[in-house]
Amino acid sequence: MRVEATIGLDRTAQSARGQYFTPELAADLIAALPRLPEVPRLRVLDPGAGSGMLTAAIIQRTCREQRIKEVDVTAAELDATLLPALKQTAELCEEQGRKSRVKVRVTVVPGDVIAQQTGPGMELGDDFDLVIMNPPYKKLAASSWQRQAMAAEGWDTGNLYAAFVALGADSLRVGGQLVAITPRSFANGPYFERFRKQLLRRVAFDRIHTFESRSTVFADNGVLQENIIFSATRGGRRGMITVTSSRDHTDVRGERTVAYDELVAPDDPHQFIRITTDELDDDAVRTITSLPASLAALAVRVSTGKVVDFRAQDNLLHAPSPDSLPLIYPGNLRGGKVLWPRPIGKAQGYQLLGADDSKALLPSGYYVLVKRFSAKEERRRIVAAVWDPAQHNQKPVAFENHLNVFHANGTGLDRELAWGLCAWLNSSVVDRYFRTFSGHTQVNATDLRSMNYPDEDALRRLGGGLENLPEQSELDTLVEQVKP
Ligand SMILES: C[S@@+](CC[C@H](N)C(=O)[O-])C[C@H]1O[C@@H](n2cnc3c(N)ncnc32)[C@H](O)[C@@H]1O
Repeated sequence: MRVEATIGLDRTAQSARGQYFTPELAADLIAALPRLPEVPRLRVLDPGAGSGMLTAAIIQRTCREQRIKEVDVTAAELDATLLPALKQTAELCEEQGRKSRVKVRVTVVPGDVIAQQTGPGMELGDDFDLVIMNPPYKKLAASSWQRQAMAAEGWDTGNLYAAFVALGADSLRVGGQLVAITPRSFANGPYFERFRKQLLRRVAFDRIHTFESRSTVFADNGVLQENIIFSATRGGRRGMITVTSSRDHTDVRGERTVAYDELVAPDDPHQFIRITTDELDDDAVRTITSLPASLAALAVRVSTGKVVDFRAQDNLLHAPSPDSLPLIYPGNLRGGKVLWPRPIGKAQGYQLLGADDSKALLPSGYYVLVKRFSAKEERRRIVAAVWDPAQHNQKPVAFENHLNVFHANGTGLDRELAWGLCAWLNSSVVDRYFRTFSGHTQVNATDLRSMNYPDEDALRRLGGGLENLPEQSELDTLVEQVKP
């Protein structure tokens, strides 16, 4: 059965509405994930069904397997222009059922699934065996009716995809399964923390599939997203989970089982979802979680740079002299050091105009800087460098907001500790660890605070002899020596 995902659709309008349709192979991969229970009649919900790619994939699977003899799908879609394509898919599915002697019924329901599934009566039903979805992606403002409707159901959903996942979980019977392809961004970070905790209370993950590179299945204004596919059971047991990965939708490999506590550490206050895809990831998690120190124990704090340049236009100097106060951007970080000024197309001098302007400055001292944005495809996700006051005339310094700054309660760190932290943060083991939980391009201060670190002596030993960042392999050998 061939289903045209986008019959007669305008592609620009499509991306503006967050309508990224699932390619057929990905739909098959998603439909293969749930364990289909041996029920006399399988009840499936496909919210935001589009042209019905996922409905078609699940019908194909049941017809092929011949274990379930009756399937009843509710395919809900808001966009009226998609309804003819969806109805056509529904007919094709029912025809396929007749040929395969499986009783298939696909009911197309127009309308808004958030409106339909919130409030006293869940119009589409609340006892589905399976909810399968590729939800729309769109930020939801706190004042939006969707977010408020979800809040009334006990969910904090800052994005439409989270709202869909939430109502998907609520639409299941106990023991029913939710299968979704979503951005990985809910796995860590403060923005999705409440949603993540609410989700983890309601469902237990069974399987997770990751992709090696990001794709545009979900695109936020053209920004590539890292996606995962997962299946989770409402009220399920937190046992072992299966993790697979692939480069794209075609080459599933590396099936492995992971204990639930490794996916979500029970004592993790932020409930990060860590996805380890091989033994090296496991080693990295073991290494970092067994380290003795927290940043607080090291008396080190991490904050974002204070200068938001477009709000401080008057303070910016486009052609700073060597005597100007430096304003440091991520583009100034090179090979573990800060090169200032550099031709990066930014105004890199900061001048004090009003009495309050000096609040943007940190006193002369050693600081460790980490870029706040980096993508999966980059060689390292955490890019750290040392701000060395000796190389910059011992002047106070301003850091721009796209940087995380490690400091000692608003003053500099000592030299050895700064270089030790910089080397540690740039190591391969930290990079690997970070990638197990980071699902977006941000490196949040919370992420950096949530990691364990070597103790102060070990960091000083590591930083003691450094003035530059060594080559990666040499750096990793040095780091080996301070691991417990
Ligand atoms: C990312 S597309 C996926 C479509 C389809 N499930 C697939 O896999 O190809 C999300 C779909 O959700 C629909 N949608 C967006 N908001 C919706 C809402 N509130 N209620 C129902 N459908 C919605 C969009 O029109 C779009 O067709």
